[in-house]
Amino acid sequence: MTEDCLDRVVIKPRLKGNISRTSHPYGCKKRVEEQIDYVKEAGKFKGPKKILILGASSSYGLASRITLAFGCDADTIGVSYERGITNEKRLATAGWWNNIFFKQKAEQEGLVAKNFIGDAFSNEMKDQVIDYIKTEFGGQIDLLIYSLAAPKRKDPKTDIVYTSALKPIDEVVIGHSINLENGKLFKQIIEPATDEEIKSTIKVMGGEDWELWIDALEEANVLSEGFKTTLYSYVGPDITKAFYGNGTLGRAKRDAEQTSDRLNERLKNRVFGESIICCSKAVTTKASAVIPIFPLYASALYRVMAEKDLHETPIMHKYRFFKDMLYGNKREYDEQGRLRPDSWELREDVQEETKALLKQITPLNFKEITAFNRFKDEFMQLSGFNIQGLDYEQLVNLEELKDLLP
Ligand code: NAI
Repeated sequence: MTEDCLDRVVIKPRLKGNISRTSHPYGCKKRVEEQIDYVKEAGKFKGPKKILILGASSSYGLASRITLAFGCDADTIGVSYERGITNEKRLATAGWWNNIFFKQKAEQEGLVAKNFIGDAFSNEMKDQVIDYIKTEFGGQIDLLIYSLAAPKRKDPKTDIVYTSALKPIDEVVIGHSINLENGKLFKQIIEPATDEEIKSTIKVMGGEDWELWIDALEEANVLSEGFKTTLYSYVGPDITKAFYGNGTLGRAKRDAEQTSDRLNERLKNRVFGESIICCSKAVTTKASAVIPIFPLYASALYRVMAEKDLHETPIMHKYRFFKDMLYGNKREYDEQGRLRPDSWELREDVQEETKALLKQITPLNFKEITAFNRFKDEFMQLSGFNIQGLDYEQLVNLEELKDLLP
């Protein structure tokens, strides 16, 4: 960030490894608008009208919110954990701006777009959201989307804070990943998780909190007849199994899938509803960029999928999921009853070619032979950078933007 006077600044990207330390408000605005345009162009479809999204401010959660608001004219409540501009002149997070600009656009079209910023795992957040549903949101919701990706969770019953770990189980994994800060390939050796780390990851990313939300919503009698809930899981191919599907995060996802089975039985009986797992494809997000080895796999995968005209960003993937599967008649189930929009990623030809490409990679050629540039662009765009047509030299008036609230 370079300063002209105290409140007018030029905002530059600043990465620390695979984490972005800055975000550009106008870039985030443009990104939100582009996703809305995508949905408008793709067309409306019949779907839910009153929705609660946990993890609504970025990537899959935001894409789901945009799809259903602009594809089905749905009113939405979004819960997320984001930070605004602070007095110490720290910039707001990208999700903060996404919430603000989504809301502006939705309200312009007469839709309700309520944002709650805070800890979705807490009882207080559940109480606040339920109170809002009862008093101002028409009393009921038709859909709950669970799209949280969090590094930590405080258990509301015990106040113990659990931290998730991204590690393999019972094996050491050696592979290569990409450092987005310096654009270099590096070797990663990931030691297996301890039992404690496995347990903690399940606590954070498993199904416990999802079930607590359904408990609270059901007790408050705010679930409509035919209510649905979905959680975004990941299975992935053999290549990523050791550190993902069979690792700590995979273990947490399998826990959430068991939760879904329980919720499904219960919702069927109580409100003729359903709970369904959506196995989603690998995409570039804040959360996935820090998964070991994943950036290199994604870069190779994107090259192969793009060549076959199968590449999808979160908005494309979620639009297809909701329109064709959850609210459409092209549901693709697996033997466990999960929905599988990730089938394109897992197609045999896609995986064979991705594997073959990964075998050819060297530190010198990986940028040329994979879709690294696409991965990097998508990553930068998450924070509002690398967006075509935006003048990044223009001064941003932080003092003015500070007054905008989600
Ligand atoms: P993301 O990092 O882009 O978004 C996470 C969201 O959770 C943000 O809105 C953030 O504000 C919110 N959040 C985090 N902690 C919170 C808290 N304590 N309280 C309230 N909100 C909180 O993540 P992404 O990648 O979109 O992931 C969403 C879900 O999709 C995750 O469950 C992830 O495992 C799943 N998924 C992701 C895939 C990928 O390739 N990125 C593939 C398949 C599934």
